[in-house]
Formats: sequence, structure tokens, C-alpha cells
Amino acid sequence: MKRNSPTPELAAARALEFVADGQVVGLGSGRAAAAFVHALAERVRAGMHIRGVPTSGRTAALAKELGIPLVDLGTIDTIDVAIDGADEVAEPTLDLVKGLGGALLRERVVAASARQWVILVGVDKVSPVLGTRGVLPVEVVPFAATFCHRKLAELGLQSELRRANGPVYVTDNGNNILDCQIGPLADPAELNRSIRAIPGVVEAGLFLGMKPIVLVQDGQMIRRLGYSDR
Ligand code: A5P
Repeated sequence: MKRNSPTPELAAARALEFVADGQVVGLGSGRAAAAFVHALAERVRAGMHIRGVPTSGRTAALAKELGIPLVDLGTIDTIDVAIDGADEVAEPTLDLVKGLGGALLRERVVAASARQWVILVGVDKVSPVLGTRGVLPVEVVPFAATFCHRKLAELGLQSELRRANGPVYVTDNGNNILDCQIGPLADPAELNRSIRAIPGVVEAGLFLGMKPIVLVQDGQMIRRLGYSDR
């Protein structure tokens, strides 16, 4: 997928304020999350003890390379804080679109396991109505990809099977992604229900009502939106 918005490096550095020594930290995927992983690694090198739960193979590899210890989600009770990016944030609802990086399924699991969920975006990703940025990723099992494409069309969504420079893109879970064209959504919750009811769909990029804290970078300024408690 084409990505052309700037990486919110300052917001990534600010997100360190949400992490304390001894915590378990969910590590998102994409450029904003990677910027945070780099900032966190500096703290780890300086002596901070944390354990990370990565949301993708790519993030796991980066964290390992930078010396951040990782822990398996199955062996812990809770994640103290998870830090991730997003493809769109609606304000004021703080509903999100995620998944252009292909890690949406594990991102949702980690977000749902976390006591605090912090999202890092540039101001260009904030819109008044969810869907304005035009793309909604849907993860489907390969066996059902054509069927899901047809069913999404019946819901009025044109979709395209994601490719990785030629071959069909395969997620960390062995699935495929259908990228749907969308516009501003009148009822995201209803659309989410309809998409997720299609047999073969395993995840959709609508992250609704999940109470994130959102750090919006606008030039050198950071604006904080959202919820302290989940
Ligand atoms: C990964 O699957 C996505 O949900 C990312 O969090 C999202 O695409 C944001 O990525 P960038 O920070 O690279 O824009």
C-alpha cells in the first residue's frame, strides 16, 4: 500500500511518558510504532527493564535487533500499555482505521489486552468522519478470498486483493488482505458488523469504541486526545 504521511517521531518520543520500569509494553506495527520502538530501545540501553509484546514479525525482529526483551502474550496476564500507529483517527469519536501495515489482527488482540492504548499519528490522519481517508483493510482466509470479495461487493464495497510487489500479500497469520474503497461512513458500527459476519473474514480494520489515548503530532506540537482509563 502507498503510504505518504510523515512519521510522527515527536509523538513517538512523547509516548515514552506512558511507560514505567518493570512494565509489559505492547509494540505496534508500522512506521510510528517503529519510531517508538527505537525510542524505547534507548531507554532499555540506559537500564530500563521492560518486556515487549510485538504485534508483527517485523516489529519482533526490530525489537530483538535493538535489544528489547520480548515476552509471549500467552504467558502474561495483562499488558500495561500498548503503543501503536493508525491509518485514520476520527475526532471526536476516536474510532480508528488500522491495517494498512497488515498487522491488524494481532494489533487488535494486543490493544484489547492492554490497560492503556496509545495511538501515534500525524495531524493529516485526523478526520471528522471515519472513512474519509478512503481505505479499509479486511483480513480474510485465503480459501475464502474470492467469496469475501463478492460478499463485500454486495455490501457496496469494492475491494482489491493486496499484493506485495507482485505476489499476493500474506499476513503473519497466513491470511490475505482485501483493501476496500470507502468514503465517510454514516454508520461504522453497522458496517463493521456486516463485514465481520461474512464467513472467511477474520478481522476488519475498523477499531471502534476502544478508548485510545491519541497523540497527534502537528509540526512541533503534540495534541493529546482521549481516555486515561479503559
Ligand atoms: C499496521 O497494520 C497498521 O495498523 C499501522 O498501525 C498503521 O498502518 C499505521 O502505520 P504507519 O505508522 O506506518 O503510518
